[in-house]
Amino acid sequence: MTIKYQSQKIAQYFYTFAIILFAVQVLVGLVAAIQFLKPDIAILSFATIRTLHINALVVWLLAGLMGATYYVVPEESETELWNYPIALFQFWATVVAVTAVVVGYIVMGIFPQANISVLGTLVLNEGREYIEAPRWADVLIVVSVLLFLFNMFMTMLKTKKWTAIQGVLLTGLVFLALMYLPGMFYSKNMVKDQFWWWWVIHLWVEGSWEVIAGALLAFMLMKTIGAKREVLEKWMYIEVGLVLFTGILGTGHHYYFIGTPKYWWWVGGFFSSLEPVPLLLMVWDAFRTTREARNVTNKVGLFYTVAHAIFNFVGAGLWGVIHTLPQVNQWTHGTQITTAHGHLAFYGAYVLLIMAMIYVTLPSMRGVKEFKTSRAYQAFWWMTISMVFIVLTITGAGMVQVYMERLMGLDYVAVKANYNLWFWIIRAIFGVGFLVGTLIFVYDYFRLGKDQGLQKT
Ligand code: HEM
Ligand code: HEM
Ligand SMILES: [Fe+2]
Repeated sequence: MTIKYQSQKIAQYFYTFAIILFAVQVLVGLVAAIQFLKPDIAILSFATIRTLHINALVVWLLAGLMGATYYVVPEESETELWNYPIALFQFWATVVAVTAVVVGYIVMGIFPQANISVLGTLVLNEGREYIEAPRWADVLIVVSVLLFLFNMFMTMLKTKKWTAIQGVLLTGLVFLALMYLPGMFYSKNMVKDQFWWWWVIHLWVEGSWEVIAGALLAFMLMKTIGAKREVLEKWMYIEVGLVLFTGILGTGHHYYFIGTPKYWWWVGGFFSSLEPVPLLLMVWDAFRTTREARNVTNKVGLFYTVAHAIFNFVGAGLWGVIHTLPQVNQWTHGTQITTAHGHLAFYGAYVLLIMAMIYVTLPSMRGVKEFKTSRAYQAFWWMTISMVFIVLTITGAGMVQVYMERLMGLDYVAVKANYNLWFWIIRAIFGVGFLVGTLIFVYDYFRLGKDQGLQKT
């Protein structure tokens, strides 16, 4: 198996960058977990470590999505990329900007005064969770994403082959780019500020990213099983249609207690409760297609694809729906229940998605038909079992927190330091397990196709 178009190889650059950041993200996540037990373990404080953890997560997932798109679009359009040098430039610009932002966070962690204000914007850290990147970096990100999208559209225009998969994929990406914009202006009114902030955070992961996931799911099922395009595309339309219908109005589940009008209780509660439905359809889609499979060409790729569909449903759908009604959320809002859901949703929906795309597309980029798969399975089990236990642990911590803090009225710190201590210890232990899985994956990524005695095609 080899790639059809040489320019698809650009995907590997993005994958490599993504994977390095992934390792960093997990490593600092573990440091954050240990800081719950020993706050002064690192030079950087919990606040900085946490920022690094979640920003690295978002950035590496975006890099992974870009890599995946660079692979899919030439394949679907049946042509080389419109402009390879621009793609390469866009890659290096992204790396430089992200590195500068990370260095900025670290500098600010050590010298908080360094985050000075120039022309009304802060130069190192803007301070809104997940999108802390300063304004100058926002501008670079927008330029980079525009270059990326332009290149994609020009590639499609070359052959004018508008397949449904790449149409939906690019629609998702345009939506993603547009939804970055509400995060670029801010209001001194906290209610308004939070209102727009959720457009980025929520409409990304429960809107545009899920649309992209729907398109990639169809692509991966087609690649690994050779499933029929027409059937996959039909299901993809239903899935992404429902994702948008429930997800857009589902934004209301973040507007219950932040000063927005009361009608959001009804809108948010109702529509977000329906959000698991399209995610369940995706699971069903994956199973139905797999059952009909005659010749599976890439078993690991398929394994990760199905795992992604399942954990997308469990993490986002189930762990989301449990706290999505205002009657429940008034107790659980902003507790460890939220953190538990955040972990399983991101892991299931997007970490496994990028890993699946890597296992589906990397063999062809490395020019191998068969590769040693044992490490891929080991990585999966180390990560998944550890993540499940991390999530169960912090769900437990969240239940204790809700009960003691919000029903019994104990202090936040008293609950955190005393009653939840064992949960933090167990989380840290499984954090080590997760790191082991990540390192196996990183190693496997660099080794894939390079082991002795395997046939090359
Ligand atoms: C892949 C999709 C999803 C991802 C990655 C995701 C991730 C997250 C994250 C990280 C947060 C915490 C945000 C913060 O820092 O305050 C959050 C909050 C929340 N999510 Fe999700 N989520 C997803 C899907 C869903 C779905 C489908 C539902 C409902 C069915 C849901 C319900 C909620 C609710 C109610 C909150 C607010 C929790 C609170 O009040 O503290 N999420 N989500
Ligand atoms: C790929 C795997 C991971 C993903 C997707 C992930 C995702 C996230 C997200 C979305 C948040 C913010 C949650 C919120 O505020 O609601 C977060 C916070 C955090 N994560 Fe992770 N994480 C991962 C791995 C880890 C690991 C292995 C550990 C170590 C045990 C860890 C420890 C933490 C800690 C301690 C926080 C701060 C929680 C708090 O503020 O209470 N994470 N992570
Ligand atoms: Fe949401």
